[in-house]
Amino acid sequence: MITTMESQMKFLMMPILLVLFILLPCSVVTHAKSMIEPCSSSDSCTSLLSYILPYDSKLSEIAYRFQLNISDILAANSINPRTPSLDTHIFHAKSFFKIPIMCPCVDGIRRSISTIYTVKPADTLESISESYGGLVTGQQIGSTNNINAMNPLMIDQPLVIPLPCTCFNNVDNGIPAVYMSYVVQNGESFRSIATEFGTTVTDLAAVNGFGQLVLDPGDILAIPIPACSSANLNWHNESLIVPNGSYALTASNCIKCVCRPDNLQLQCSPSGIVASCTNLQCKDSDLFIGDSYVNRTNTGCNVTTCVYRGHLGGKIFRSLQNSSQVQCPGNQNFNAIPPMVSPYDNPHVPCIGLPPQSSPAPAPSPTMGRDDPYSQKSNIPSDKKELLNRALWYNSLLVGAAFVILF
Ligand SMILES: *[C@@H]1O[C@H](CO)[C@@H](O)[C@H](O)[C@H]1NC(C)=O
Ligand SMILES: *[C@@H]1O[C@H](CO)[C@@H](O)[C@H](O)[C@H]1NC(C)=O
Ligand SMILES: *[C@@H]1O[C@H](CO)[C@@H](O)[C@H](O)[C@H]1NC(C)=O
Ligand SMILES: *[C@@H]1O[C@H](CO)[C@@H](O)[C@H](O)[C@H]1NC(C)=O
Ligand SMILES: *[C@@H]1O[C@H](CO)[C@@H](O)[C@H](O)[C@H]1NC(C)=O
Ligand SMILES: *[C@@H]1O[C@H](CO)[C@@H](O)[C@H](O)[C@H]1NC(C)=O
Repeated sequence: MITTMESQMKFLMMPILLVLFILLPCSVVTHAKSMIEPCSSSDSCTSLLSYILPYDSKLSEIAYRFQLNISDILAANSINPRTPSLDTHIFHAKSFFKIPIMCPCVDGIRRSISTIYTVKPADTLESISESYGGLVTGQQIGSTNNINAMNPLMIDQPLVIPLPCTCFNNVDNGIPAVYMSYVVQNGESFRSIATEFGTTVTDLAAVNGFGQLVLDPGDILAIPIPACSSANLNWHNESLIVPNGSYALTASNCIKCVCRPDNLQLQCSPSGIVASCTNLQCKDSDLFIGDSYVNRTNTGCNVTTCVYRGHLGGKIFRSLQNSSQVQCPGNQNFNAIPPMVSPYDNPHVPCIGLPPQSSPAPAPSPTMGRDDPYSQKSNIPSDKKELLNRALWYNSLLVGAAFVILF
């Protein structure tokens, strides 16, 4: 309905636009600036599009426009799939969405060509371009599909919609990152965009290779979004990169991995959206993936977590992981240790928190020698000291004092 009205308006405006076009000399037509990343490989990466809704739309309409599943859009925008009446909710024009797309290498440059649009009555290249929020011009759609005066748009014709994307190896300044193609809006500057997306003017300018810091509306910037990566997590047969502000569903949608905004660590737990998931509990424990036991010790906390470790052939891998932490997770409250479970919803798997052990007042140990670096600073019992030394060793070895027990 909306689309039809929109198209009719466009149709009525056509003569006006045509006149303007004839009056404008060709040389005035400027091309918006946009980052083009050369590439040579056949790999592809995860990337994002910024999409400002051109008109009121339901999620299903947005998903259809980009040929995605609704769940992909929910995940990229961290929307809870159990939000009531999501199906019927109408998102208003100008709402901002992140659209996840794969970014392959096509003819030597990075771009997405997996979106197909089916031409409807009264469509023009410009109206189609508008429905993609300025991510692609009518001219680009026309040239990609060889549309011209001799070869006009046909109703029901499928059109490839070329969309901008960049990979840059999913790294920015040595940190995992996912790049978002962002359409500059009226009145925006490098500074306002850097502030909005938590980056710096310097980084934006460097990434986009702009000599002068002048942006025009319609320019397309590549914005690095810091991301959580599974690269160092030793997963079996899976690698995942999840931008800050998103979650990902994996293992046949059984597992939901959130990118924690505070430390950019992946936090995986059962998604709760698929009923038939198995292998969610760690062996020899009461813990499900994502759950933790937290025990207080003299020096901090012992945390045992059941962690997700990838999936293969329908099997979900998981294992218990111990870590000794100087700071207990959550807060410093000695009496009430909060659950380790993420603030993100997961009603199906409660956290199992154990009360802190009553720790006797530590006594100085006679076995501590003068050469012991800890003997002057603290009076940790020798068994605890051993633990501390182990913890420190693991800390330096593995960064984070975590050691993983494979089963
Ligand atoms: C959408 O979901 C269906 C079934 O859940 C799946 O087969 C398909 O691959 C998904 N499509 C995309 C683009 O993720
Ligand atoms: C994936 O699994 C197969 C079979 O278990 C194994 O040979 C291969 O090394 C695994 N690949 C990765 C990247 O873990
Ligand atoms: C992740 O995003 C949130 C806002 O969504 C922001 O507050 C936080 O600083 C970001 N984290 C990092 C590491 O950039
Ligand atoms: C903490 O964990 C270690 C093993 O990682 C264990 O030996 C020690 O007894 C634990 N301490 C407490 C107080 O649970
Ligand atoms: C925590 O304490 C309980 C009870 O004393 C013990 O069974 C468990 O193994 C401890 N866990 C860790 C990680 O130390
Ligand atoms: C992890 O902690 C639990 C409880 O303290 C203990 O039973 C287990 O042996 C520990 N595993 C390792 C590898 O230290």
